[in-house]
Amino acid sequence: MKKYAVVTGSTGGIGAQVAKRLADDNWNLLLINRSKSKADAQVQELSKTYSNLEFHAYQADFMDLNSVQAAAEKIKSEYDEIHALYNIAGYMTNNLTHSVQGVESQLAVNTLAPYLLTKSLTVRLAKGANLTGGSHVVNFSTSMISSIKGLDISNIATPEKIEGMGKTYAAAKLVVNVFNRALKDELATQGISIFAVDPGPTKTQMTENMVGVPWLFKVLMPLMTKDVNKQTNKLMNGVKSAISSKQSGVFISEGKVKKEHKLADDDQIQKQVTTLLDKLCFSRQPA
Ligand SMILES: NC(=O)c1ccc[n+]([C@@H]2O[C@H](COP(=O)([O-])OP(=O)(O)OC[C@H]3O[C@@H](n4cnc5c(N)ncnc54)[C@H](OP(=O)(O)O)[C@@H]3O)[C@@H](O)[C@H]2O)c1
Repeated sequence: MKKYAVVTGSTGGIGAQVAKRLADDNWNLLLINRSKSKADAQVQELSKTYSNLEFHAYQADFMDLNSVQAAAEKIKSEYDEIHALYNIAGYMTNNLTHSVQGVESQLAVNTLAPYLLTKSLTVRLAKGANLTGGSHVVNFSTSMISSIKGLDISNIATPEKIEGMGKTYAAAKLVVNVFNRALKDELATQGISIFAVDPGPTKTQMTENMVGVPWLFKVLMPLMTKDVNKQTNKLMNGVKSAISSKQSGVFISEGKVKKEHKLADDDQIQKQVTTLLDKLCFSRQPA
């Protein structure tokens, strides 16, 4: 039986490593990226190394939910079953910029796109789960969520400014942990487990071009970040171990299950978050 995983941001530092680890484990990959040329090159390279597996590239810019939805619909039209979804694409900025739909760009890329893909592909993941005994969703978060003490859901989509020290980015990632906890029970009834993961400080484009942090932090960053291979191994081992011990909804940081942020378990926050995300993702202006 062929296993299919959808992976976003597979052309990035951690995403490229996750794609290789999945291929090592015999996963066929449906790769969603914004750069068609980078994705095509990656498909060519993976196909050479893993000639027994299928690799397909889909293009989507996560700054535009219509583009994300179109990729999801294309995958749904081509595949009846999917067995895993890795929402890896992520982005950090110190500038207040907006998606095509007018949402703060970090919330759009880090939160809305994964939410839309999770919800849109649930029907295919559920079908995959029926045939394999379980599917899984892995949503990329960060340990930086611990710096967030409160979420102002009413202003999160259109804040007046970007908070320093990556706090707007961290808040967008915390919303990922919140929606993971909110969706886990409903997904479990369909045989789908869901995880939020923090790769830990990892040497990639993102940390090399870190924005919104003091110069000293930038100087120290190369000393604080770790090798992408090692961090990805820890991450994937953590996910595999959570799957084999039948956990779901947990936050896995550097391969180990970590205490979840208390806001992620707040019923009222979960309700506010899912109401907002449903509105932004599914009541938007069509393309
Ligand atoms: N590195 C760390 O220390 C660290 C720590 C905690 C969490 N994380 C999270 O881990 C994930 C992977 O990060 P990374 O370190 O591997 O970063 P990276 O090397 O910068 O890769 C980010 C990926 O996201 C894609 N992406 C960015 N904006 C996009 C958009 N508008 N539409 C579609 N794709 C977009 C990038 O595409 P392009 O290839 O086209 O640029 C790239 O594939 C992210 O979610 C990040 O937030 C990283």
